[in-house]
Amino acid sequence: MRPSHALSSKAGGAVDIEREVDPATRRALFDQVRRHTGIVMSERKWTMLEGRLRRRLRELTLPDYRDYLEVLEAKPDEVRDFIDLVTTNETSFFRTPRIWDYFAQQFLPRWFDARPDTPLRVWSAASSSGEESYTVAMLCEEFRLKHPAFRYRILATDIADGILSKAAAAHYRGRNIEGLRQTHPELLDKYFSAQGDGFCAGAALRANVTFRKHNLHERPRDIGPIDVTLLRNVLIYFDADGQQAVLENVRRAMAPDGVLIVGESESLSRFDMGFQYEQPLIYRNPRGRP
Ligand SMILES: C[S@@+](CC[C@H](N)C(=O)[O-])C[C@H]1O[C@@H](n2cnc3c(N)ncnc32)[C@H](O)[C@@H]1O
Repeated sequence: MRPSHALSSKAGGAVDIEREVDPATRRALFDQVRRHTGIVMSERKWTMLEGRLRRRLRELTLPDYRDYLEVLEAKPDEVRDFIDLVTTNETSFFRTPRIWDYFAQQFLPRWFDARPDTPLRVWSAASSSGEESYTVAMLCEEFRLKHPAFRYRILATDIADGILSKAAAAHYRGRNIEGLRQTHPELLDKYFSAQGDGFCAGAALRANVTFRKHNLHERPRDIGPIDVTLLRNVLIYFDADGQQAVLENVRRAMAPDGVLIVGESESLSRFDMGFQYEQPLIYRNPRGRP
C-alpha cells in the first residue's frame, strides 16, 4: 500500500480521486478484469470502467487507482466486488423472441416426444439477474400444463455474486417487468405476484431453478449432462481464444445431441469444434461429451 499521505481526504470525508490515470495503471486495471473474468476490454472502454470503479474508490476512500490495484492483490474479498462492478448485466424476459418461439414450439414438443420419461436439463450459463432462467421456467410450466408428465430442471450460473443474489431473490421492477407486461401480460399475472414496488417470481417458477456461481473459463464441475445450454450475450466479452476455451468448457457439460443457443451478435461459424449449425443462433452438439 502506498503511504497514507497519498489518501488525501476532503472535508466531509469525500476523497479527490485522481482524474488523469496513466496508461500503465489503465493497462493494469484492464489486465485485472481479464484475469478475474476473461473479459477483454479495449482502451475505448476506459471511460466506462473508470466510471464504475470510481464509486468503489470513493467507498474505500482511495484517491488513486494504483492503491486500488494493491487492494485487489492484497484482499481476495475485494475481487468479488470488482467482478460485480466490471460485469455488464443487461438482460430481459423473452430477450430475442425467436429463440423462445423455437424453444416452446419446436424444441419442447420434439424433445418430450422422444424422451417422455426424462427430465429436461437446461443451463442458463450467464444468467445475470435471472430473467432468462425464469423465461425458460414460464415456458416449461406452460408446456407442463398440456403434458403433466413433463419434468425439467434449470441451472443458472454467473460469475458475479451480486447479480446472482438478485436472481435468487427474483424480485423485478422497472423496465424489465414493464417489458414482460407488454409482451406476455397473462404470464406476468399467472407466475408473478406484486410485491413492494415490483413483482416477485412465484414458487412454481422458483422451485425448478437453482442459482450457482460459475466462471465459464473454468471447467464445469457437477454441471451436466445438459440438454439445452443458453450461452447468450456473454461470448461477445471474450476474445477469440477466450471464446474457444469457453465453448470447449460448455461442450464438456452438454449431453449428446444437446442444443446450444447463443446471443444475437454471436456466432460459432469461425470455431471448428463440432457444434452443428441448426438455425440462426441455434447449434447442436453431435458428439456429446469428449
Ligand atoms: C449481458 S449479460 C447476459 C445475460 C443473459 N444471458 C442474456 O442474454 O440476457 C452477461 C452476463 O455474463 C456474466 N459473465 C461475464 N463473464 C463471465 C464469466 N467469465 N463466467 C460466467 N459469467 C460471466 C456477467 O456477469 C453478466 O451477468
